[in-house]
Amino acid sequence: MTEKFTAKTADKYVLYQRSVQSAEQDIEFLHQTYKQLRNRHPKRFREDFCGTCLMSSYWAKLGSDYTTESYDIDPEPLKWGKENNLKPIGEAADRVKQFTEDARNPSRSAPDVRCAQNFSYWVFKTRPEMLDYFKKVQEDLAEEGIFVIDLHGGPESHQELEEETEMEDESFTYVWDQDSINPITGESTLRIHFRFPDGSEMTNAFVYDWRLWGLPELTDILLEAGFSKVDCYWEGTDEDGESGNGEFAVSTQGEACLSYVAYLVAQK
Ligand SMILES: C[S@@+](CC[C@H](N)C(=O)[O-])C[C@H]1O[C@@H](n2cnc3c(N)ncnc32)[C@H](O)[C@@H]1O
Repeated sequence: MTEKFTAKTADKYVLYQRSVQSAEQDIEFLHQTYKQLRNRHPKRFREDFCGTCLMSSYWAKLGSDYTTESYDIDPEPLKWGKENNLKPIGEAADRVKQFTEDARNPSRSAPDVRCAQNFSYWVFKTRPEMLDYFKKVQEDLAEEGIFVIDLHGGPESHQELEEETEMEDESFTYVWDQDSINPITGESTLRIHFRFPDGSEMTNAFVYDWRLWGLPELTDILLEAGFSKVDCYWEGTDEDGESGNGEFAVSTQGEACLSYVAYLVAQK
């Protein structure tokens, strides 16, 4: 039976994970990409801006020698994640180490794969700040390590607009609100709201104060930070050639669509 959500009873982290994250597919992508590039399995993972550690929980479940370090400055999602994402995976949870720390802090154990997902690193608003973060990541990676970031772009990502997505089971609607965007500085206030079938709304469940970054400039900064190679993984299209098929592959030629999500994979 479909769970009944209302603004009063719903847990914002449950809603966030269901509407924003595809942690299992993300982990599969990271694992596969490392394997293709290095011809062996990665073992040590680091999730920056980890929030509720959902990706880390999937990584730890890959096997008894898969370990992760998970960094976030906010203790609230970390605590929620411990209770709701780590406890349920039993002994695998022992392989997830949470740190209530800035993503720029060094790792305890050098990661094979490190990621910053859902555009969270856009919290760094100036080029020197972004370069500093990327340099720290580059130095911190294990030999042959990779750093993976996602990003979104296309003209729609630079417009003030609200995009509604109703869940398949109709239990709630996810609202991505590009509330204010300054085209001169790229600074933007982005909000997530949730609307429910009973007419109630959870307004400003999450609010982000970010700068919008572009794909070519992020590639340039990664290279300047010392990464030896940076590839863009672009999404393929399904048979009708219209919508994305969820499969990402290295590409140097994208389609100028209204909005897209892509990955940059940077090799140490
Ligand atoms: C958009 S959420 C990302 C959650 C999750 N990683 C995901 O993929 O959906 C951004 C997270 O970054 C954290 N954060 C913001 N600035 C940070 C910093 N300098 N260092 C570490 N975490 C930070 C916030 O506390 C928040 O949990």
